[in-house]
Amino acid sequence: MSEVMMEKYSDCYLDHLRSPRFMLREESPDFEASGRGRIKGGARDSSLTIWIRLNDDGIFERFAWRARHFPRAVASTSMLAELVMSGTNGRPLAIDAALAITPFDLARALGGFPGHKIHASFLGPAALRLAVDDHLRAQGLDLQASDAEDDALLCHCHTLTVRDVIGAARAGHSFDEIQNKLGIATGCGSCEWQARAIHQMHHNQPPGH
Ligand code: FES
Repeated sequence: MSEVMMEKYSDCYLDHLRSPRFMLREESPDFEASGRGRIKGGARDSSLTIWIRLNDDGIFERFAWRARHFPRAVASTSMLAELVMSGTNGRPLAIDAALAITPFDLARALGGFPGHKIHASFLGPAALRLAVDDHLRAQGLDLQASDAEDDALLCHCHTLTVRDVIGAARAGHSFDEIQNKLGIATGCGSCEWQARAIHQMHHNQPPGH
């Protein structure tokens, strides 16, 4: 069994589930955010929103998040918030270090996920990237979105890569249209959350962004 696939939830996972770090109970944060990222789920009204504020050096000052009807995102987003705001030395991270946190880092930090629930850990990093992009856009700076992993296999059931989804999203297709056209997330469904996050990041964006 891999280090991110466990038979049951770890104590660390359950702790974050019961006491989520930096999670908002209200609709909006009690600070002025410089960026906001929101991932919408397939179910009606489900979403994960992250608000951030960065200082002039690109270091995180504040981080808040809220999940609506997205219980699967709670523990991993809580861990993401803790890693970003505590860093490795108890100090908040800079943008590059925060964006380098992968879903597998979150799974490892949480002591692994049972079964195929690893896909839930893609939501936080995807929403964080949107929030950082929003922050940078407001500053008139380049977006951080990277194409480095575009050739990675995203949907094993239909042999589709990240690039396939990005291309269809940039061409303006809705997620439903991509599902009908390519079949993504219509097999086992385990790729759905990551596919939706990638689609949302690239929908109607021209190449190079
Ligand atoms: S991996 Fe995409 S539907 Fe199974």
